[in-house]
Amino acid sequence: MITTPLANAVLEAAESRRSIRRYSNAPVTESELAQLVETAGRAPSAFNLQPWRWVAVRDPELKSQLQAAAYGQPQVGAAPVVLVLYTDTLDALMNVEETFARTLPAEKAAGTKAHLLSTIGAQSEADREAWGAGQSYIALGYLLLVAEGMGLGTSPMLGFDPEQVKSVLGLPSYARVPALVAVGHPAEEGFASTRHAVGRVLSLR
Ligand SMILES: Cc1cc2nc3c(=O)[nH]c(=O)nc-3n(C[C@H](O)[C@H](O)[C@H](O)COP(=O)(O)O)c2cc1C
Repeated sequence: MITTPLANAVLEAAESRRSIRRYSNAPVTESELAQLVETAGRAPSAFNLQPWRWVAVRDPELKSQLQAAAYGQPQVGAAPVVLVLYTDTLDALMNVEETFARTLPAEKAAGTKAHLLSTIGAQSEADREAWGAGQSYIALGYLLLVAEGMGLGTSPMLGFDPEQVKSVLGLPSYARVPALVAVGHPAEEGFASTRHAVGRVLSLR
């Protein structure tokens, strides 16, 4: 068993995290939001493309429209902030100077960009953004753990109509919406949930 302070902190956050759907009145500050998104953004992604984008919805009217798009799920209305995770793989591809190209020599970066545009960029919009959604779920996992470490409660959700969410927020028509995440200071412990035993999900060869 590894017992460095870092390992302990990560294991503790992973083991104690639960979905939280009730929140205190304490606001989530802009600096908490920035730290949450910045540290979640340390998630790895293929070619370091980081195709995820977030909208932090705090406006009550917008939140109530999001709640309607999420089939009335109460945590959407109850949370001080709802993060909408969406993809913009097109934007990431067109602006590689902001991502891997900053750390590669210019010639290699140009070659990698050309390769990406002729592979991921040549896919249908739907497939391209589905690729971005796969990357974005890594960032979602990071965000849920980082929030736990910051003492924030989260409720990740897939129960919503993505077209309605995009329409409420004016997101690009091609974007995918991998998740909504209600975020707030916890006012409940959450349900005790079980997980598969290791032997059920891991086979050793
Ligand atoms: C991608 C994703 C989508 C989910 N969608 C919903 C949802 O729409 N509504 C909800 O109440 N919980 C939702 N959940 C929460 C799961 O039910 C929950 O994570 C699971 O039961 C394990 O419980 P825990 O998060 O407390 O460990 C979702 C979780 C994930 C990761």
